[in-house]
Amino acid sequence: MTHRGLGISAISTEDFRHIARKKLPRQFFDYIDGGSYSETTLRQNINSFAQIELRQRVLRDVSHIDTSTRIFNRNFDLPLVLAPVGLAGCYARRGEVQAFLAAAKANIPFTLSTVGICSIEELHRSDPTSFWFQLYVIRDRKYALDLMQRARAAGCDTLVFTVDLPVLGERYRDKRNGLSGGTNWLGSFKRAVDFARHPAWIWNVAIRGRPFTFGNLQQAVPNANSLSDFKRWVDSQFDASMTWKDLHWIRENWSGNFVIKGILDSEDARKAVEAGADGIVVSNHGGRQLDGAPASLSVLPEIVDVIKGECKVFLDSGVRSGLDIVKAIALGADGCMVGRAWAYALAAAGEKGVAQVIKILKDEIKVAMALTGVSRIQDIDRRILRNR
Ligand SMILES: Cc1cc2nc3c(=O)[nH]c(=O)nc-3n(C[C@H](O)[C@H](O)[C@H](O)COP(=O)(O)O)c2cc1C
Repeated sequence: MTHRGLGISAISTEDFRHIARKKLPRQFFDYIDGGSYSETTLRQNINSFAQIELRQRVLRDVSHIDTSTRIFNRNFDLPLVLAPVGLAGCYARRGEVQAFLAAAKANIPFTLSTVGICSIEELHRSDPTSFWFQLYVIRDRKYALDLMQRARAAGCDTLVFTVDLPVLGERYRDKRNGLSGGTNWLGSFKRAVDFARHPAWIWNVAIRGRPFTFGNLQQAVPNANSLSDFKRWVDSQFDASMTWKDLHWIRENWSGNFVIKGILDSEDARKAVEAGADGIVVSNHGGRQLDGAPASLSVLPEIVDVIKGECKVFLDSGVRSGLDIVKAIALGADGCMVGRAWAYALAAAGEKGVAQVIKILKDEIKVAMALTGVSRIQDIDRRILRNR
């Protein structure tokens, strides 16, 4: 249920979602908002947080709340990372740069997607702060190596290697909107009408936000001049034959922190540790891959149990508030990633929107900590949950 009042100020991620829905062409809003198949896992992700109850505690001196945390030997202001989100430059002008600047100012890590519109180098030019780089399993190992070297040269200290996309989970909304290609003339006409109904987006993003290409992949697809040319390359590059053995190759070629994203099973979590991961992201890709897979939060405790502190455990999928972040930490996560939360805010208000959503999450974390009676992130554990 949402109460939007006069709509004067966005005060929650849901408010940003509503604004994004108005501002973006339908096909892009649905691309962000949607999940795979019947979207059961997408809904479960949200429900799983609602089912966890916090324990209200009183009179525990919560006058100084410290939300800072240490991740891979660096201090950050929050246990929060902006997750890799592809095509962010389609939601706001040079969207990845805007979101990165907001994250850098808030002192939290930003993760650049392989399929970002802005390149590794464009981000690095915009601000010297280090960011994380996400890599997909791609067939062309030389190109993967090249991307890792480019990331290292730009000062990225953390590689997020996404393993839950050997094949693409079908998203009905994208098919219906013609975003997955294969449209006839009527489909193309309808897509053009969708764009035409958003003139502010055309001017701000499609015209002033050029070039509209996958910045990191330009060398791989030199003659491409449209997103569909790149998409064809990306589709042909997803490597479904990849196994755990190949992860050792990545580990050998990346000297920084190595985070494996897309773990949802405790056996896989152990394998990730054996493959040399410094961290894992417990994730179902925001309900965009295997519909019917459990909510990330519901498998988090069993995964934390088998990891035994041997690497960092991050959680994403369904995080919409600071209270959600506190619940995930109480169940053993070292921090959370958010995807849609920042993508909606970016579409709604660019860098300012992302800065605002980070502030909202921070304020919510602080209030949740104060009312459960803890003052430091490292003191959050199961004792702040009811019946755990
Ligand atoms: C629009 C969109 C694009 C995404 N693109 C990528 C991507 O390029 N690489 C990746 O590893 N994950 C990608 N993800 C998954 C996110 O990194 C993250 O796992 C997910 O959004 C978390 O769920 P949440 O949106 O409920 O926070 C994407 C998610 C969305 C919503």
